[in-house]
Amino acid sequence: MTAPLRRVVGRRVLAIGPAELAALFDRHARAVIDVGTGNGRPILLRAAAEPTTLAVGLDADAAAMAEASRRACRSPTKGGLPNALFLVAAAEALPEALQGRCDEVLVLFPWGSLLRGLTAGPPGPVAGQSGASPGSSDLVGGLAALLGADGRLTIMLSLTERDAGLGGVPASLSLATLKPMLAALEAARLDIIECREATRDEVLATGSSWAKRIRAGTSTRPAWLVRAIRRSVAGAG
Ligand SMILES: C[S@@+](CC[C@H](N)C(=O)[O-])C[C@H]1O[C@@H](n2cnc3c(N)ncnc32)[C@H](O)[C@@H]1O
Repeated sequence: MTAPLRRVVGRRVLAIGPAELAALFDRHARAVIDVGTGNGRPILLRAAAEPTTLAVGLDADAAAMAEASRRACRSPTKGGLPNALFLVAAAEALPEALQGRCDEVLVLFPWGSLLRGLTAGPPGPVAGQSGASPGSSDLVGGLAALLGADGRLTIMLSLTERDAGLGGVPASLSLATLKPMLAALEAARLDIIECREATRDEVLATGSSWAKRIRAGTSTRPAWLVRAIRRSVAGAG
């Protein structure tokens, strides 16, 4: 977690210092971050519904967040949202200044390296093998490190045989194929609250335009919901 901090404001990418970021977090009662936010719609919705929550969208692709960040930066009298912030970073190298600052981490319908890193399983030696397992990743560790005490992580994902060709991800989702991800969450000191198929209503409630477009949560494209909570220090073991 060593990447410099860069925020998106429309088509511009600007530096934001750790002190400025810390002050922004300190001014809000809670903070939610959506990693791989894409067009940032869920973040705009959250920021509008919860004015005392800092809603942060983060994506490796600054251009994807241009429109949402432009909207957020309007004057509040014209629908602007001063409690929404958009940051450019890769999920594999999250800025250190975000560590421990978030009450909620969302990862909604990830794709590409974000999806691969999530589903790869925990890093490090696997029982009965020497060395790290092939494809293992500590992306989940980086996500878990964003959470403060009692912080919660919500992941929604959808993957079917039709997505063959993505490479390095399971052919489809089930409790069995999600096992490496659940193991990575446990290894990152998170307790799994639930792991099950999501309903279409739950999918739509995320505000994800991508999920709506691909019809995630329908019988032809099931969606999976995983919720986890940061293990309390007493139970850290
Ligand atoms: C399928 S889109 C989903 C966007 C949004 N979460 C939604 O539900 O509408 C996946 C997003 O993940 C981002 N992404 C993929 N790999 C990433 C990575 N390693 N770090 C950060 N963002 C990543 C992509 O840039 C893209 O915006």
